[in-house]
Amino acid sequence: MDKLIATGGKPLSGEIRISGAKNAALPLMISSLLTRETVMISNVPHLNDITTTMELLGQMGVGLQVDEKMSIQTDASTLNSAVAPYELVKTMRASILVLGPLVARYGHAEVSLPGGCAIGSRPVNLHLKGLEAMGTDIIFEGGYIKARAKRLKGTRIFMDMISVTGTENLMMAATLAKGTTVIENAAKEPEIVDLAESLNDMGARIEGAGTDQIVIDGVEELGGTAHRVIPDRIEAGTFLLAAMVSGGQIKLRDVRPQHMEAVLGKLSEAGAAVETGEDWISLKSPDGPIRPVGIRTSPYPGFPTDMQAQFVLLNTVADGMSTVVETVFENRFMHIHELRRMGANIELDGNTAVIQGVSRLNGAPVMATDLRASACLILAGLIAEGQTTIDRIYHIDRGYECIDEKLALIGARIKRIPGAYFASRSDEPVS
Ligand code: EPZ
Repeated sequence: MDKLIATGGKPLSGEIRISGAKNAALPLMISSLLTRETVMISNVPHLNDITTTMELLGQMGVGLQVDEKMSIQTDASTLNSAVAPYELVKTMRASILVLGPLVARYGHAEVSLPGGCAIGSRPVNLHLKGLEAMGTDIIFEGGYIKARAKRLKGTRIFMDMISVTGTENLMMAATLAKGTTVIENAAKEPEIVDLAESLNDMGARIEGAGTDQIVIDGVEELGGTAHRVIPDRIEAGTFLLAAMVSGGQIKLRDVRPQHMEAVLGKLSEAGAAVETGEDWISLKSPDGPIRPVGIRTSPYPGFPTDMQAQFVLLNTVADGMSTVVETVFENRFMHIHELRRMGANIELDGNTAVIQGVSRLNGAPVMATDLRASACLILAGLIAEGQTTIDRIYHIDRGYECIDEKLALIGARIKRIPGAYFASRSDEPVS
């Protein structure tokens, strides 16, 4: 299994181009199942999850072409299977997103139930409840969801919990339903708006994406489109935080500051000097100590759960006490046990971490447990005294494009120790 070795003590400064958003690219690629025509998606990040999605679509018979700039062209007119197998779903839970498009376009689907993962049980009951409300018959057999529907019917769906992929799955399904679907209590993430814009370019009739009520008037069929993936707001936040905790300064290009208000606000509150333009953000870390900031994660536009681990690290080296409350996932504090081994002073009380800032961390061997926790541990290694070895970094490669190379560009002392390939694809379910 690949490992990363990080050596601490250098301020991280420089300029980074942010990649396309993983959590926009995945549903965009999968939305190609809704049409027989060609879909061209550009600015796709080069990530393991993207490769997995290509494998998933390819084994269904979807034609795929990729160019050197990671623009992906899909052709679902050759689709010959509506099955998403366990072997692929267990490595990427977002595979559940094929369910809605397959039922809407082909009338049936067999999708392995995505198991839980490190950060929580990750149920998909809201996805299934919405599809059943639209007229889908669903049974469970051998760990698979088996879904059938003659023609989905538009209806009103109230989401009991705000779910990003739940909203995306049902929005995609509703584009080809007969009649109008209203999704109430919808998630409002920018990735959902990006998907809706692409679907509307394909001929869908979606209004309200980005608000808590999305209205979709079903159409008979969708055409093709060419769409550029929005920038990754979580990658951007992670690099801003890298400069902040290491005492550096950074400029990010190809970003959307308007997608990052909660994170930028908290960085300013912690003492950063932040400036923004239409597609850039610059951050200068404070001359004095970092101020601790209270964090409570919540659905967009609130503070993103995907930035929680990174801000636990910021508070770990801030001057004072703070609390971080994780309200979205039930087990997303595993990075804290590893940070403690590096000298962090953090007490856990249910979904609340109480953090007492320390003057420095000490390098240690640590283990990544989920995608965003991995980023936190790498940054911790880059500010700790001495060397830190981060194991199980296949988690990080799922969601950050060439993170070690990008960090090295801003001065990080980091190197990747390749493990044997066969061990690099873990059997453990991942987020
Ligand atoms: C998406 O996951 C993201 N993944 C996650 O990013 C992100 O952390 C999460 O949204 C929250 O923002 C993708 O977009 C591919 P949810 P998703 O459905 O859609 C519960 C990363 O790091 N729930 O919004 O799976 C669920 O258990 C990943 O890039 C149900 O109970 O998250 C959770 O507590 C990690 N039943 C809450 O809702 C359901 O049917 C929010 O989950 C669906 C969700």
